[in-house]
Amino acid sequence: MRGKVTAVVGTKWGDEGKGKIIDALAQKVDVVARATGGSNAGHRVVINGKAYPLHLLPSGVFNLNAKVVIGNGVLIDPIVLWNEVKALEKDGIPVLNRLYISEKAHVVLPIHIALDEYEESVRIRKIGTTKRGIGPTAEDKYGRFGIRMGDFLPYAPMRNCKDSVDYCLRTNYQIRSKMANEEMRVKLAIASCNRNEKEFLEAVVGLRDCVCDTISLVHQWLERGQNLLIEGAQATLLDIDFGTYPFVTSSNPTAAGMCTGIGIGPTQLTEVIGVLKAYESRVGEGPFPTEQNNELGNKIRELGHEYGTTTGRPRRCGWLDLVALKYACRVNGLTGLAVNHLDTIGKFHSIPVCTIYRNDDYLTEAFSSEVNKLQKCEPMYTHLKGDFGDISQAKSLDDLPSNAIRYLQLIADHTGVPIRYVGVGPEREHLIECCLLPEKMEKE
Ligand code: IMP
Repeated sequence: MRGKVTAVVGTKWGDEGKGKIIDALAQKVDVVARATGGSNAGHRVVINGKAYPLHLLPSGVFNLNAKVVIGNGVLIDPIVLWNEVKALEKDGIPVLNRLYISEKAHVVLPIHIALDEYEESVRIRKIGTTKRGIGPTAEDKYGRFGIRMGDFLPYAPMRNCKDSVDYCLRTNYQIRSKMANEEMRVKLAIASCNRNEKEFLEAVVGLRDCVCDTISLVHQWLERGQNLLIEGAQATLLDIDFGTYPFVTSSNPTAAGMCTGIGIGPTQLTEVIGVLKAYESRVGEGPFPTEQNNELGNKIRELGHEYGTTTGRPRRCGWLDLVALKYACRVNGLTGLAVNHLDTIGKFHSIPVCTIYRNDDYLTEAFSSEVNKLQKCEPMYTHLKGDFGDISQAKSLDDLPSNAIRYLQLIADHTGVPIRYVGVGPEREHLIECCLLPEKMEKE
């Protein structure tokens, strides 16, 4: 029998706690994969009290029996990946012998990081990028002068790895500098690029044996009945097509993008789990209808420890937005939801949840990610009872107080999607596996 494919996607602006859900799911699969984004992602997995921040390796790497794939859709900064691999190997977690990196994955070069900073500095509408070189690397990819991991292999133009790296960095620089009109800025970028060249080469040499044709391998494994978990990075409202453009990332972190990023067809996805927090957060610029830029927002931030894993930036916080969530369910075709931080929201006495927007003089349940339209929307709230108490030890829905169940039921009913996981604390064991059906589905 063919193996199952489960994809985990973020439903909002990232940082929904995908790492924890993935970590739980990863224990049951044979292959774990990243398919989109790059080191702009930051997943924090807590195991035995130790926090592991990961940017490029799938969080499922902690299932030591799983093969680990970095698919063609990922933009790879070899220095970041190599440091992550080394850190885990040092802690006794073997990675190199089960890591498969797509030869088609584009490479974030040191120059891209400098260019990311430069582009952000000249942008009239700042995006607040993570400065990990994602935008410029994607520009090279779609401009068709990008460098791919396969370019460092022996069949590439240069046989020797140092020559390949040299050749790639120079070629890319030549194209870039011809395109640039701010000579001095590009020279600056190159200066920063040169500083990292030695470290870059060391990383490429370290990873080179893992680079291969991951598309063929993934299909062979699936045909042998092995199960695959595709781990999302970023999230729906940061998607370059479905998100709040231009305040988005340069990839498609939604379910269809994950298919492209690993090399499978949409019909091969068995399940798509959308992860959300019981409230909202966003880093960087862009509209955020339910944002609480006040004491309440500060309280959510402190209770939920809402500071970026990648940049350390304080996250903007606000109430749960079910209008946006329904949109995420639609564009991803979600089959299940994972609700994190139920414990955090349960510390409030009364909890506002946005169920509809007011746009000028009419009410709408239709979410539009068009910035100009979204900025006009005023969220309308339903207030639910909080005070859930200490729910961190809950192992099933039966262990939750009725106020907490009502909160979850509202989410399932509004979206029409079953709740499959509930996070009740930061550790991997603080997770309830369940199947809370929407009312309509129960009746059918
Ligand atoms: P970039 O992906 O670094 O170009 O950043 C574009 C936008 O996406 C910025 O607003 C970032 O803060 C946001 N972003 C990118 N990756 C993540 C993530 O993993 N979590 C949350 N926000 C992200």
